[in-house]
Order: sequence, then C-alpha cells, then structure tokens
Amino acid sequence: MEKKMEWWKQTSIYQIYPWSFQDSDGDGIGDLKGILGRLDQIRELGVETIWFSPFYRSPGEDFGYDISDYTAIDPRFGTMEDCDKLIKEIHKRKMRVVLDMVMNHTSDKHPWFLESRSSKENPKRDFYIWKKGNGQKPNNWISMVGTSGWNYDKTTDEYYYSNFLSFQPDLNYRNPKVKKAMFGVLDFWLKKGVDGFRLDIFNSIYKDESFKNNPFSFRYFPTPDNHDEAFFQKKTYNLNLPESFQFAKEVRKHISKYKQNPFLIGEVSGSDKVLKSFLGEKSDGLNLVFQFELIHFDYHAKFFKELLEKNEKEFFAPHTPTYVLGNHDQRRYIDRLGGDIRKAKVLSAFQFLARGIPVVYYGDEIGRKEGRISNFLGKDPIAKMNRFVPLFLSNLLGIYINRDNCRLPMLWDTVENAGFSKGRPWLSVGAFKSSDTVSGQKKEENSLWNHYKSLFHLRKGSEVLKAGSVRTKSSSFSDLLCFERFLGDKVITVYLNFGETEGKEPVIKGSKLLYQFGDAMVKGETIHLPSHSGLVFEHKLQKKMSI
Ligand code: GLC
Ligand code: MG
Repeated sequence: MEKKMEWWKQTSIYQIYPWSFQDSDGDGIGDLKGILGRLDQIRELGVETIWFSPFYRSPGEDFGYDISDYTAIDPRFGTMEDCDKLIKEIHKRKMRVVLDMVMNHTSDKHPWFLESRSSKENPKRDFYIWKKGNGQKPNNWISMVGTSGWNYDKTTDEYYYSNFLSFQPDLNYRNPKVKKAMFGVLDFWLKKGVDGFRLDIFNSIYKDESFKNNPFSFRYFPTPDNHDEAFFQKKTYNLNLPESFQFAKEVRKHISKYKQNPFLIGEVSGSDKVLKSFLGEKSDGLNLVFQFELIHFDYHAKFFKELLEKNEKEFFAPHTPTYVLGNHDQRRYIDRLGGDIRKAKVLSAFQFLARGIPVVYYGDEIGRKEGRISNFLGKDPIAKMNRFVPLFLSNLLGIYINRDNCRLPMLWDTVENAGFSKGRPWLSVGAFKSSDTVSGQKKEENSLWNHYKSLFHLRKGSEVLKAGSVRTKSSSFSDLLCFERFLGDKVITVYLNFGETEGKEPVIKGSKLLYQFGDAMVKGETIHLPSHSGLVFEHKLQKKMSI
C-alpha cells in the first residue's frame, strides 16, 4: 500500500485578513471574537484550512506585518484567551489553522531592536544587520519596495538593513541566537496546536556575507512572482540566497517533530527553479510555496492549459502546486475580470479542480470588489510612500500601490456597514447591494458564494480531485479547456468554456454528471457549453486507454 498522502497536500486554504473580517466590539477593526462568530459560516462554505494574516502585538504601521511581540495578541484583536478559544473552535469544526510568521524582520519597536540600536556593545546588536557607512550607504542594495535597504541611525552612526520598509529591520540569521529565538516562537505556537505557518517574504531571510553591490538590470517594475530583478537591479546578493534554501530545510526539520504534522507555505518569488530550491531537492524544504501565476492570468483557455502543463512538468507529484487568485497585497481578481461573475465562476472552477492547493482570499467567494481609495488617502505604508502618484497612473502602469483597496471589510448582511461593524470601519465598507453580501448570495442559487461552496465541497469529498493526477486533453474548439483528473480506475473530466460562443462535445460513455454551472447542460449524447460555463463528469477508466 502506498503511504497515505499527507493532509496538507490535499487541503484548501482560506485567508482571513483580521482587520477586515468581522468586528465584534464596535471599534471598527475586525477581531478574534468576530471571527469566532463566523466560524460556522466558514465551515459551511467548506473551508479546510484557515490562514490568518498576523494578529500579534504590533504598532500596526504595516497592519501587523511589523511585529513587536511574537507571542502576544494585539489588544486590537483580543486576548490570548480569545486566540486559544479560536484555535480550539476551529479544530472542533475539523478545520486547521495556519498563522502568518514574519521571520525576516520585526517592527523597529520590537524590544530586540530597541536594544540593538541603543549601542554597538548591546548583546542584541547582532540580532540585526548593522554596517558602517563612512558618510554613504554601505552598498547599492535596493529593498523590495524600491528604496535603499540601508537606514542611517544616528545613535551609533551606522546603518541597519531592511529589505522591506525602514520600520521593518531585518533580523540577522547568521547569529545563532536569532535562529534559536525564532524557533522558540514557532514552538510556542506549535504547542498551542497550530497546523502550519505562512512564511512572509521568506526569499529575503539571508543577505550575502560579502555585501557586494548588486549588478545592474534593465528591469524596473517587479511582478508578484518576480522580485529578483527590479528597480534596475539584479538582486543577486539580497534575495534568494542559497543559505535561505538551506534554512527552509532547517525550519522544516524543526517543525516536523510535532504530531499535528504541520506544514510551511512560503511567500517566495522567482523563477520555477528558485521556487523548487525552496522546496528542496528531496522535498525536504518548505512544504509548499505560493504560485502567483493566477495573479496575472490571461483569461483564455490556452493560458490555463499551458499553466497546468507547465506545473506538471516542473512541479510533478510529489510536489503540490498552489493556485493563488488573490491576497492582501494584490488587486482583487473580480476587478481584473471587469466584475464579470460568469468569468469568476470559470476561473474559480479551474482553481479548485486543477491538481494542487486552491488559496482563496476572504471575500473572493462573493466577488468582493476593490475600493477606489487614492494613493494620497491610503493608510497602507506603500501608498503613503507613493502618495503623489495618481491612481490612474499606477493602474495604467499595472502596478498595485494602495493595498487598502483589496482589504475592504467583508460584506455579510444588508444592515449597517454590511454587518462588519457597529462602529466606524477602519476602511469604509463602500456601497453594496444585497446580492453583494454573503446572506444575499446564500439565498440565490446561482450566486458566486454557492458556486464556491459547491467547489469546496466537491473537492473535499473527492479523492480524485484531492490526490489524483492531471492531464490536459485536446478539445473541439480553442476556447474550451478540457482536462482529466485520475486516481486508480476513477476519472474526473472537466470542461471549462472561456469563450463567448457555445461549444459542444460528445458525452463520455458511462459518465456521471458531478457539477455544472453557467447553463452548461447535457442533451442526449451531447454536452452543451454556453459562454463561460463548465461541466464536471466522473467515470471509470476505459480499458483501452493507456496511461
Ligand atoms: C509580505 C506581506 C505584505 C507585507 C510585507 C512585509 O509581502 O504579504 O503584506 O507588507 O511582506 O512584511
Ligand atoms: Mg474590533
């Protein structure tokens, strides 16, 4: 018998941004008690694993990605008691919990950094990366946000390094004490029973010891899946260092002694070769990495066919690809589709039926739309940095600046503030109709929420979809994507029409209809696929077929 496939290779992930999910105390900011009150609905949707963006103690300058205490809950969100209860209640409902772990940097208000910056002799000095400058920056390294990574600190007349914003100083993983401290943090949470970690900008953990200048590149704008060449620089010495690949293995080894069999999913970016280096040659690095191709999809069958084929070539089993349509840093996919719900159904069907892990950002299941908050009025520190860039210009250049816009409160009900808060929401809820809310969509059979619910449950209840192989099939017209999932003698065939015209295919003999959407239907021996529709069939492997 083959070893049972690990649970994390089969799960589905739902991301909650705590600021915006559900407020319970009327301060306009989402909180843990609020989330607790929504767990049954999350369960009803069919979610298997919940990933929480950070809710640790933090000044909140980067909305929690600037941590000042890794083992405390920020009072905005509640107490440690609330958190323990949340973990317990999630497990009770047979779901799992993944926490966001920001290992690369702390807040500059973290006691470690306050000590570190106080004097060169302080025992915490080497917790961070300090360099002398002699009046100028130690080298040309550019951070991931396009500014110099070096920050002058006059107390000791030296520069500290930050690969993101200047209030997020990078920890120095060449210091064994830092590693020990961070492993201690992981242990703290693993002992509480969490089932894994999402590792924030893990590609940035190590910086080259030589501190050599980065070489020139012609590329300016980074993309979600490529930061290695950006801002006219090849990030040879400050991103994706071999030591970071090695460290991935150390973290994996460290967490693997826990009986819940926890996993790591890394926010790393780069070529497939880089991603695979993080996963380890023997699959002994990060368990999973985010794959961001769907962040810049091209809504054509060809794009999705090639993506499936590419992932099978590069990330064949036992690797498990991931499919990310959105997160708290990216434009919402519904806006990238011009608000077209029919297309959203096709896209999400692809995400759930392909071989791999679907990662769903809260609100995507109701087609929650973007805000239109200008960069000037943005609360997001990246917007603040670029406040004089007009929104239309950043849109035109295809760069996403004000991340407030994808972080708007969840739309639950047709009451004040869509049921998000009884107070004044930290970001305005904006205009909405009943059909934009969860409760409105629950009542509507053909809503996006019900489609997502079907997809979550379909995948959850099917060994073939969770664990089966995949191969693309040729189809009768170019807008139609057809692929098969198979396990043992069971086959699931998926048809997705990305086009404007109706397509037809012959029915596979002996097949049973599992799911249909967008008016797709079977008439006699023919399946009819109107524009932006899909069908899913199950059948037995036909003897004459060879695999
Ligand atoms: C990651 C997070 C982003 C955060 C940054 C710095 O990219 O997703 O929200 O601002 O890291 O921690
Ligand atoms: Mg609150």
